[in-house]
Amino acid sequence: MKLLPILTTHDGSSARSNLTCKYKCGDACFHDAPNTSKGEYFGDIVKTAMSRRGVLRGGAMAVVAVGAGGLLAACGTEDDAAATDGTSSNGSTPSTPPVDGVDFTAVAPNTEDAVVIPEGYEQGVVIRWGDPVLEGAPEFDFDNQTAAAQAMQFGYNNDFAGLLPIEGTPNAYLLVVSHEYTTEPNLFKGYDEENPTREQFDIALAAHGLSILQVNGENGSGALTPAFSQYNRRLTATSEFLVTGPAAGSDFLKTGADPTGTKVLGTLNNCSGGLTPWGTVLSGEENFNQYFGNAESVTEPAAAERLARYGLEGAASDRKWEQFDPRFDLAQEPNEANRFGYIVEIDPWDPNSTPVKHSAMGRFKHEAATIYVTDDGTVVAYSGDDERFDYMYKFVSSRKMMPGNGQAAMRENMTILDAGTLYVAVLTGDSPDAIDGTGTLPPSGKFSGKGEWIPLLRTNNDGNAESLVDGMSAEEVAVFTRQAGDKVGATKMDRPEDFEPNPVTGKVYVALTNNKNRGVDDYASVDEANPRVQNKNGQVLELEDDHAGTEFVWNLLIVAGDPEAADTYFGGFDKTQVSPISCPDNLAFDSKGNLWISTDGNALDSNDGLFAVVLDGERRGETRQFLTVPAGAETCGPIIQDERVIVAVQHPGESDDASADNPASHWPDGGDSQPRPSMVAVWKV
Ligand code: FEO
Ligand code: CA
Ligand code: CA
Ligand code: CA
Repeated sequence: MKLLPILTTHDGSSARSNLTCKYKCGDACFHDAPNTSKGEYFGDIVKTAMSRRGVLRGGAMAVVAVGAGGLLAACGTEDDAAATDGTSSNGSTPSTPPVDGVDFTAVAPNTEDAVVIPEGYEQGVVIRWGDPVLEGAPEFDFDNQTAAAQAMQFGYNNDFAGLLPIEGTPNAYLLVVSHEYTTEPNLFKGYDEENPTREQFDIALAAHGLSILQVNGENGSGALTPAFSQYNRRLTATSEFLVTGPAAGSDFLKTGADPTGTKVLGTLNNCSGGLTPWGTVLSGEENFNQYFGNAESVTEPAAAERLARYGLEGAASDRKWEQFDPRFDLAQEPNEANRFGYIVEIDPWDPNSTPVKHSAMGRFKHEAATIYVTDDGTVVAYSGDDERFDYMYKFVSSRKMMPGNGQAAMRENMTILDAGTLYVAVLTGDSPDAIDGTGTLPPSGKFSGKGEWIPLLRTNNDGNAESLVDGMSAEEVAVFTRQAGDKVGATKMDRPEDFEPNPVTGKVYVALTNNKNRGVDDYASVDEANPRVQNKNGQVLELEDDHAGTEFVWNLLIVAGDPEAADTYFGGFDKTQVSPISCPDNLAFDSKGNLWISTDGNALDSNDGLFAVVLDGERRGETRQFLTVPAGAETCGPIIQDERVIVAVQHPGESDDASADNPASHWPDGGDSQPRPSMVAVWKV
């Protein structure tokens, strides 16, 4: 295997290459964080109010386990070797045996150009960028790619992955995958950033969006093979979407091409997502701002402020799409950007269905949305806004989920996320005086506190909506949700990525990936939930939420980084016996209730990886690395089944020194091939 040089860190934060920053997030980290709100006053009020009330706890936890499937029965047999042994730092070793599902031999940090898995496991690529999704698609030809071919092939930079069993067809699934972004210098030899071509623009549009395809398992292995079926579909940056909720038809969404303000072409920067219990797929439109040029031409103060709050600024965009379609030119179509930044819902069972954008859930840089259903059928959708100092949200439906898995129930349930209340989170710490920015634990032994969900927007069953924020209309809250969060003093977090409810306990977990600006200059200082200055490695938050209610308690499960460093914490577990972990991003659960974490931008000189974490009992906080992805790549979309683990390997070989003319990775095809973002299945031999 070829060893790649360890990626250089850019300006002291994660190990992401500058190329990744530019094309994935529009160089978000190189700009000032767009949240310049003050937002302390309301938080103080909440803090006082909450100290007088206990946190309400919900009744028995209802569980939604769709897609979480189960976990690694095959991967977790008792005769596996423990990941580590030796005496713990406090002189004792856990007296309990390794936890089922977290008992594989940990993969060591490395920089290989390969997916590295534990001993005793096998792996196989499921589908690669460019492989046919629709029948009749041409085989991938890197040097002769066309937009027409790409529109029928698997898109670029796979992120979210969901697997839905196909009823009546044993061992067959729908695989749903998002394609977050394109990195043009890696797609096209001789790419000229100043002068992209129309064909390159069209290929890039077609490489975004989502893929839906059937995959078939085989007896005796976890391998999955793509198949053409009636379900297979590509959604791209030109597919038609319908806007629902309070923003639909508002003046903020009207454009020359769509005077109704309801029909949007395409979905962009689809990062992570979630499966619903009624059989659909949710996908988060994340760093949509980077696709729009000429924000500086908008000078009306309120409009300019709105653009700036979403990171829309400057003249030409990096990709220069505005040269090819006026809808990407804010000077010509100032509202087009207001039509992105939503949670998208797709019926993957009907390739002719029109997916929707749910504006009642707010508009921000949605990492994802994940669903929890309470005992009475109320649907709760959690979503993080992935930007430094931005917020955590949840949406609570006013209607109950219709039971049953027929098409009629699905159709009805696809409107559940159009009526209900959108909230933003305010967190307070138990030990505010003990937080000094070093990551030193408070005397209580953990970072912990209380929280309150502040209502922003209520959308009624008849579609009428009511703003719950002074000085903003309902339409404004739906479209400029970040500003609503600012006004109520929401807590500024260290980049909230994936939320995931534990199907066993009902506790909710949040990945906070990093924040190089925490506590720096005029930026917000540390607090108990974001306790480190210049946070390079991120943390994982554990919530006990009254799901349909407004209060919760929280603690930090993991303060990530090098276990040998004093500023890290692993749920109280012996730090000599855990794998280093950095920049948590996607979360998933196995059927045993173990948490799985994939990382993006490891700042510890290793490739990104997938980790399993024990949550309860004596081994709480035990963290083992299950796999690593090739150098330059990020680990996404983990699906943890009893039979297999699936990951999306996003942007393999992406580095500042690399391009299609000089690839830094040859994964997965080897030789002198171009790197291809791909889905990988791993199973126990
Ligand atoms: Fe696309 Fe928040 O990661
Ligand atoms: Ca992510
Ligand atoms: Ca997840
Ligand atoms: Ca990320």
